[in-house]
Amino acid sequence: MSHALSLAVNGERITAQVSPRLHLADFLRETLGLTGTHLGCEHGVCGACTLRVNGEIVRSCLMLAIQAQDANVETIEGLSDSGEIADLQQAFEARNALQCGYCTPGMLITAQDLLLHHPSADRAAIRAHLSGNYCRCTGYHAIVDAIEATGRARMKKGA
Ligand code: FES
Ligand code: FES
Repeated sequence: MSHALSLAVNGERITAQVSPRLHLADFLRETLGLTGTHLGCEHGVCGACTLRVNGEIVRSCLMLAIQAQDANVETIEGLSDSGEIADLQQAFEARNALQCGYCTPGMLITAQDLLLHHPSADRAAIRAHLSGNYCRCTGYHAIVDAIEATGRARMKKGA
């Protein structure tokens, strides 16, 4: 049995029929083709599937698609296309904060969440906020560098 689902994804109104057991991550990837949301552990540990729902970061492997009824969902594609995280993406590239890139969409969305609320976050706060996002390549140091540098640049710009 399928259910009618209506939600906004990256600003676009979407309606679809979905199985009640379908995860939000699978809906985005398989139904909408938004494959920037990655799946690693599929049980809420690695953070690869992180996206924003109504402004809050969530793990889309732990959320059913039907729970997103009437929600405003933002994926890495939306944040990239809008330019919201362009500076953060540039900092990741400049500081080699990604290698295989598998963790990167989740890292960027989690980092942006922190910087929106605490642009002056220090390295300890950055590490704490990212503690639910695993990276198997970089050793994290460069990721923290990129986020710290972006926060400082934003503060300077806003000053
Ligand atoms: S795939 Fe969702 S937390 Fe790992
Ligand atoms: S860049 Fe490969 S897992 Fe993070």
